[in-house]
Amino acid sequence: MTDHILVERQGAVQIIRINRPDKKNALTRAMYAKMSAALTEGDADPAVRVHVFLGVPGAFSSGNDLADFLVIATGGEGGNEVWDFLMALARSQKPMVSGVDGIAVGIGTTLNLHCDLTFATPRTLFRTPFVDLGLVPEAGSSLIAPQLLGRQGAFALLGLGEGFSAERAKAAGMIYDVVAEDALESTVLAAADSIVAKPPQALKIARDLMREPREALVARIKVESEHFRERLTSEEARAALTAFMTRKKAS
Ligand code: COA
Repeated sequence: MTDHILVERQGAVQIIRINRPDKKNALTRAMYAKMSAALTEGDADPAVRVHVFLGVPGAFSSGNDLADFLVIATGGEGGNEVWDFLMALARSQKPMVSGVDGIAVGIGTTLNLHCDLTFATPRTLFRTPFVDLGLVPEAGSSLIAPQLLGRQGAFALLGLGEGFSAERAKAAGMIYDVVAEDALESTVLAAADSIVAKPPQALKIARDLMREPREALVARIKVESEHFRERLTSEEARAALTAFMTRKKAS
């Protein structure tokens, strides 16, 4: 279970790799917990200067594990792991760089909205089918996406659930750059190294200034989470989640 998230340090770079290829890197509660711990411990450790998020070839993440959502939708316990991870993202103290190849659904898209630099590949498709699942946007995306994409671009992404190719995401200001698959990880690590080379105190102040006010983001995540939790037990969500899980059982 724990090797579904691999945490590694290369000098001052902490690499958090999502590694559950058989499920296209769908995130379970245990995986969120391990990512939260890595972020908060890395933030507290002066030896870490930058966090890097990576996935596996062809899959950054297919989003929250829908089986976990179905547990909540049918009256089960959900836990605090997702909330803790969202707080760790919103309150992050050090730059975060992500490298996205292929599938980037749900939190696999919205996680990147918190990153300082995101690189993606030509075969990447960012998609947030929250509404189609009977759900609502999460991770502060309802606040951040309109700032980045404008109201209409955000509506296309979060309301219509339209797929955004890497090129479209770059043109829209959602990600930093598009690079070939075989250059993704070296490019991400080179960017991380360039961050490590900066004076850390000046960089921290500059980054904090660009992220104010954090409390507005935290407050938005809280409101989104309340709606999300209510929506998970709605008939719309139960039907959509059951349809996905049943589709797989039938095949
Ligand atoms: N939660 C749980 N399992 C998931 C999953 C998810 N979010 N995404 C994929 N999987 C599982 C599939 O059930 C399948 O499992 P199986 O082999 O045991 O049947 C396996 O991962 C491979 O997925 P598959 O659908 O066969 O791959 P694909 O390349 O055809 O499609 C996706 C990939 C991501 C487009 C598709 O799986 C999908 O739409 N997943 C749901 C994404 C989603 O809605 N996420 C939540 C957003 S809030």
